[in-house]
Amino acid sequence: MNKPDLSRTREIPIGVVGLGLMGCSITACLLMAGHPVVAVAPIEGDLEHAERRIREHLSKSQQEGLVDVDPGTLMKNLSITTDYSALGPCKLAIECTLENIDIKRSVYQKIEAVIAEDALLTSNTSAIPISILQEQTRHPGRFFGLHWAEPSHTTRFLEVICGEKSDVSKGEYLYDLSHAWGKEPTLVRKDIRGFITNRLMYAMYREAFYLVENGYATVEDVDRACRNNPGYWMTLLGVFRWMDLTGVPAYHTVMKDLFPTLSNATEVPKLIDDIVKAGGKGTANAHGFYTYTPEEAELWEETFREFTYEIRKLALKYPVDIVKRKLKNSAR
Ligand SMILES: NC(=O)c1ccc[n+]([C@@H]2O[C@H](COP(=O)([O-])OP(=O)(O)OC[C@H]3O[C@@H](n4cnc5c(N)ncnc54)[C@H](O)[C@@H]3O)[C@@H](O)[C@H]2O)c1
Repeated sequence: MNKPDLSRTREIPIGVVGLGLMGCSITACLLMAGHPVVAVAPIEGDLEHAERRIREHLSKSQQEGLVDVDPGTLMKNLSITTDYSALGPCKLAIECTLENIDIKRSVYQKIEAVIAEDALLTSNTSAIPISILQEQTRHPGRFFGLHWAEPSHTTRFLEVICGEKSDVSKGEYLYDLSHAWGKEPTLVRKDIRGFITNRLMYAMYREAFYLVENGYATVEDVDRACRNNPGYWMTLLGVFRWMDLTGVPAYHTVMKDLFPTLSNATEVPKLIDDIVKAGGKGTANAHGFYTYTPEEAELWEETFREFTYEIRKLALKYPVDIVKRKLKNSAR
């Protein structure tokens, strides 16, 4: 596929199907990048909140300087509907419904019935292998994972994931296009369950449960350690650059003794199982690993929203090629 002209996003209409937490922030991100967006609500309930949420993301983004076009103008590029046929002109459809393969399959049938044969179809699945999802579609070659991080309109993260039958050149097109969305994307050329970040994160979650369930630390202890150690350097460095900066041989030595003691549990931990079976969702219903009053839960969500804009400002000062840029500037 040809490289997209990133200044012509207005000529690339995109469909977003599923208007929950992520569908709304993905829609805001695409509008801010200049795309016309058709946002499809598969369930009536989405219509109650979607427009308000998207408008709030756009207003806050304007206040924070992420975009200089006012929300009213951007909203003119958006149509929200329950009617799948509105996706007809879209060159790319992003499915963003519940993490359930039966639901996703039925959504793909409805999308594929209306989009053009050369339009691309993608899923924001967190961990269902793309090779399995593309088998649920009529044209597996045009199907990809497009894995965003919440809130999608502020984060730089994006994984473009190829399944076994995906046409990699189309994946490269998505990789190029996502630069217009303010992303520093990763192209995962070979499918693996959990892709990159979820494999890394779930290895960490598993160890966190092991430490708490076996009495080595409390939930608060684990969170405090995590915030103040990896949370301190990760936005700048990632894993491998961090080892380079702090001395590679020490990691080599520690691995020999530490790896055999790490958790390799394969069952869902009891701690999370108990919460989920009791109906706990986290801050969404003030019932998670911590106890919250409804007011505290809401304030945590609000504080996280504030923080995402703050850390974004810091992260933007340190792009991936920061050292190359510094060298170039000092040579002038
Ligand atoms: N929340 C995150 O941080 C995150 C991060 C990366 C990927 N994801 C993935 O994105 C997808 C959506 O997650 P979310 O957090 O936005 O979920 P959500 O619960 O906020 O929204 C789910 C949406 O699914 C749709 N839906 C619900 N029931 C349906 C049905 N029966 N038929 C068709 N559509 C239905 C609705 O549009 C609903 O709003 C999931 O696959 C999830 O794994 C989530």
